[in-house]
Amino acid sequence: MNLIERPRRLRKSGFLRELVAEHRVTVNDFITPLFITEGKGVEVEISSMPGYFKRSLDRTVEHVKLLRDCGLKCVLLFVQVDDRLKDNTGAEALNPNGLMQEAVRALKQAVPDVIVMTDIALDPFSSFGHDGIVREGEIVNDPTVEVLTTMAVSHANAGVDFVAPSDMMDGRIGAIRTGLDGAGFLDVGILSYSAKYASCFYGPFRDALDSAPGFGDKRTYQMDPANGREALREAALDIEEGADIVMVKPGLPYLDVLSQVKEISSVPVAAYQVSGEYAMIKAAAAQGWVNEEAAMLESLLSFKRAGADLIATYFGLDFAQMAH
Ligand code: PBG
Repeated sequence: MNLIERPRRLRKSGFLRELVAEHRVTVNDFITPLFITEGKGVEVEISSMPGYFKRSLDRTVEHVKLLRDCGLKCVLLFVQVDDRLKDNTGAEALNPNGLMQEAVRALKQAVPDVIVMTDIALDPFSSFGHDGIVREGEIVNDPTVEVLTTMAVSHANAGVDFVAPSDMMDGRIGAIRTGLDGAGFLDVGILSYSAKYASCFYGPFRDALDSAPGFGDKRTYQMDPANGREALREAALDIEEGADIVMVKPGLPYLDVLSQVKEISSVPVAAYQVSGEYAMIKAAAAQGWVNEEAAMLESLLSFKRAGADLIATYFGLDFAQMAH
């Protein structure tokens, strides 16, 4: 054939492919979510997340040292508190000596260079398992935002680097920014879950923290999977309100959203490869139906290609420990 263009020329060898690769994943891209539970010496594998553990704080500190030694520079903390501490006001979320606040203090002391981010939402502290305060069966926006703001300031008092509101209430980024600034925490950043969808892929996470909603679902605050443009509205609002990083969640089923948010965003954009995505890869690999390492690498790379500057993933350590 008389072809002028032969794109295959650039695929001829591994060296050449590496030379012309448009994207690459590195450990610098990762945010590692961690599940912290009460007690000492506790390390429990999460049944729906094979190879992933929840740990007591002492073990978490040791684990974060390992992460740092492997080049993983950022952790995102979630806590599991005793059911007796849960109510409909989020009181335990504000406890200056609560598990989250203790965790932030312990980690910033033991591994000060590791960037610590905390989840801001009420679900782990809510007797209803909802991200906000419930009144007459509804999740009320403005009173929730008030508590979330106090919660963020409380984490800042403990020394957090970034707060990560995952609740999807309206106006919470602006309120939290004002709250942090008012308390003198000008340098505490906000990673906003800007486009967080009401997704079935959070199932294993809710197992891990025992945080499934007690009634109904989260569709009155998390986004409708049918909507793409609405994500741009949410991201634009968050950026205007002071978000330092915006995030799209889940990951793979929403790559289109990620790429559109990247187009309009003036701040770094993160993707969250959520618990159900991790579980699917692990489960299929355990059956021998996909190669685990290859599936991990390909999915992580897809986030970079779609425009992610950062990736929250449960595969961070696996990636770092893999020979590549
Ligand atoms: C809670 C929260 C959830 C996740 C992160 N923060 C669950 C939910 O909204 O029900 C999910 C993370 C994952 O599945 O990996 N606000």
